[in-house]
Amino acid sequence: MKTFSTLSVGSHMQRAAHLTHRAAKPIVALAVLTLAAILPTSPFVSAAQAAEASAVAANARPEVVVRGEYLARAGDCIACHTAPRGKTFAGGLAMETPFGTLYSPNITPDSKYGIGKWTADQFYAMMHTGKSPDGKLIYPAMPIAQYTKVTRQDSDAIFAYLKSVPAVHQANRKHDMRFPFNQRELLIGWRTLYFSEGEFQPNTKRSAEWNRGAYLVEGLGHCTMCHTKINMLGGSSKDEQFAGGLIPVQNWYAPSLTSDKDGGLGDWSTKDIVDLLQAGISDRGAVYGPMAEVTYHSLQYMTDDDAKAMAVYLKTLPDNDPGRKAGPPAKVEPAVAANGKRIYMAKCSACHGDNGEGKQQHYPPLAGNQSIEMDSAVNPIRIVLNGGFSPGTRRNPEPYGMPPFAQELSDADAAAVVTYIRTAWGNHGQPVTAAQVNELRKAPQR
Ligand code: HEC
Ligand code: HEC
Ligand code: HEC
Repeated sequence: MKTFSTLSVGSHMQRAAHLTHRAAKPIVALAVLTLAAILPTSPFVSAAQAAEASAVAANARPEVVVRGEYLARAGDCIACHTAPRGKTFAGGLAMETPFGTLYSPNITPDSKYGIGKWTADQFYAMMHTGKSPDGKLIYPAMPIAQYTKVTRQDSDAIFAYLKSVPAVHQANRKHDMRFPFNQRELLIGWRTLYFSEGEFQPNTKRSAEWNRGAYLVEGLGHCTMCHTKINMLGGSSKDEQFAGGLIPVQNWYAPSLTSDKDGGLGDWSTKDIVDLLQAGISDRGAVYGPMAEVTYHSLQYMTDDDAKAMAVYLKTLPDNDPGRKAGPPAKVEPAVAANGKRIYMAKCSACHGDNGEGKQQHYPPLAGNQSIEMDSAVNPIRIVLNGGFSPGTRRNPEPYGMPPFAQELSDADAAAVVTYIRTAWGNHGQPVTAAQVNELRKAPQR
């Protein structure tokens, strides 16, 4: 089991905090919590641990429990509600935000610390309205804005599954939020702006497959929590959903999932999308950073039908940002281009190919790979500095790794090689500077 970690906090958190200082009212600033807090900094929970829950009475489980387990995976509950090396669903995962730290609660059936005393009605009310049985408003670090779309039937199945996992008698850690963000009443402001309660409503003009995909992507999958541009108020308008955005605190860029041919999925086939979601690697690229965790805990378990439905839905998202691409590649200073190419041929081409063609299903191609060409250069810089592993999945159990180059390459050299891969082979990215590289070195590693 590899210890795959997402990187976070530090200077980036301060930047997120800085961003919110400009928002006049704490009510509004609190909205940033949706994005800032969503990303736990846990390494992947071990496969054995993930299997722990499913091992319980695997032979004699009622159908509703089995279905509930599948839906809980689609919702990725385990990722946030399990601490590193902690017991499954016992909570305690620290979620750093610019306003302090939230600790995910215990959602095992323990009657004192967990949800043992909850009824299915109360559980559905929580998922649907974002309010606890005791009436308290829930922080949007729990994806309530998305889970409100979950149907009553699916909510009941998830509840039945959670009631079937081993109870863990472990107290919840109190949140450690600074004043005034520790005042839950402030969430009324966020809710007014960004929460609209309501189950998913099928679009009768679309196929059953499309609707299934939309339900999973918009609801349980909570993809928009990351793949959405956030405005200065820490919220996002509807038409910016899926348009991609920088994830505060963690400082990874979640690309557009629209049909935008530059940064989106416009050029991807349905099969490319399905492969990426289920296997973690496709002919278009591999998952890394926070997306690797999503694949590891959640998407690899989706059935072929559901993964395809999600892809079918994603392929219909309209182009939000038409006509960005085209034209000749950006101009790069000849000395930088030559240095970048030299480094690439010496350190990268063995895996990614002399012309960035990659080795399919092992080493992702870099030519024509939009996650490298995107306006934001955060991802390619970080992967060059930090290296990465795509997650081990059922379809790709032994992924290949990429070594980190932070030690080996100076800021200028790393900038040169990233500039090279962003502009060579017809790629349409812009050059990056040594200062940009230097800034991202500060992202703390675990
Ligand atoms: C992105 C992280 C994240 C994910 C994914 C997530 N949760 Fe949560 N959840 C939280 C946090 C943080 C809280 C605490 C919120 C608060 O105190 O207001 C929470 C709270 C809860 C609570 C307790 C609410 C209460 O009234 O005290 C339950 C139950 C719960 N989550 C169930 C789930 C289920 C079921 C799933 C999967 C379908 C899930 N969560 C997925 C982060 C997450
Ligand atoms: C030992 C083989 C190896 C070497 C050497 C290597 N890489 Fe990688 N690279 C990989 C693998 C494997 C991945 C997928 C990693 C993941 O998914 O976390 C990857 C991913 C990437 C990505 C992200 C691609 C995507 O799918 O979006 C970029 C960018 C990248 N490498 C650039 C480079 C550069 C630049 C160098 C040289 C400085 C380099 N790599 C050297 C194996 C390698
Ligand atoms: C925790 C944040 C997070 C969540 C939740 C999330 N993603 Fe991602 N996703 C990312 C990041 C960051 C990247 C960029 C790294 C990479 O390509 O792996 C990414 C990359 C992708 C890519 C590759 C895009 C490209 O142009 O290379 C696809 C497709 C994708 N996500 C689909 C989804 C879908 C579908 C969901 C919901 C089921 C989802 N993501 C949920 C953070 C997230």
